[in-house]
Amino acid sequence: MAANDTLSYLMAWATAPLKVASIAPSSSSLAKLMTQDLGPDTGPVLELGAGTGPFTRAMLARGVRESDMTLIEFNADLAHLLRCRFPKSRVLEMDAAELRCKPLYETPLAGAAISGLPFLAIPPRQTLAILEGVFANVRAGGAMYIFTYGFRCPIDQSLLDRLDLEVTRVGHTFRNLPPAAVYRITRMKPAKIYDWRFA
Ligand SMILES: C[S@@+](CC[C@H](N)C(=O)[O-])C[C@H]1O[C@@H](n2cnc3c(N)ncnc32)[C@H](O)[C@@H]1O
Repeated sequence: MAANDTLSYLMAWATAPLKVASIAPSSSSLAKLMTQDLGPDTGPVLELGAGTGPFTRAMLARGVRESDMTLIEFNADLAHLLRCRFPKSRVLEMDAAELRCKPLYETPLAGAAISGLPFLAIPPRQTLAILEGVFANVRAGGAMYIFTYGFRCPIDQSLLDRLDLEVTRVGHTFRNLPPAAVYRITRMKPAKIYDWRFA
């Protein structure tokens, strides 16, 4: 990890510690785990809370095209850094909770969503909005990948049930500060999630 990544990250953390939620970017080990199911055939990918881009880099290494990536980042300085670093991607400086009101794709929809968001620090209402927005932009059979420093999935089972989402644990790595676990979220019945394309 480059020293300037750590500096950019620390500055973002100092501005909004609850939104950034960790003091260092994710390790390459966590990035590999987060992206293990992705490849050239995944098609468009949506990344939430991209930060300095460790998951973006891992996706590129797995063959996801940069031009197929939409990177969402709340922090203006980090969004600027992502634009410089991944010029062929689409970088949107916005709150991921606004995705619900912003259809991102005509067709095809994203094959996967990779989330760097700190769900343990995000209130349930906002988490609900984020999940609705993500799954309205991910095609049937696609998945969302999230990570947590906690011992269980950071999203409440009641919220997952409400949206007919199913969660499975992908794995865990000690080679991250702090150690982290990755979960895959898939949707069981697309119809129950609000989808403006069919409204
Ligand atoms: C834990 S950091 C992860 C950054 C990067 N993905 C990584 O793994 O190193 C969380 C990132 O999500 C961004 N973020 C937090 N809440 C957000 C929101 N509601 N919408 C968009 N970005 C958000 C923060 O600015 C920060 O860059």
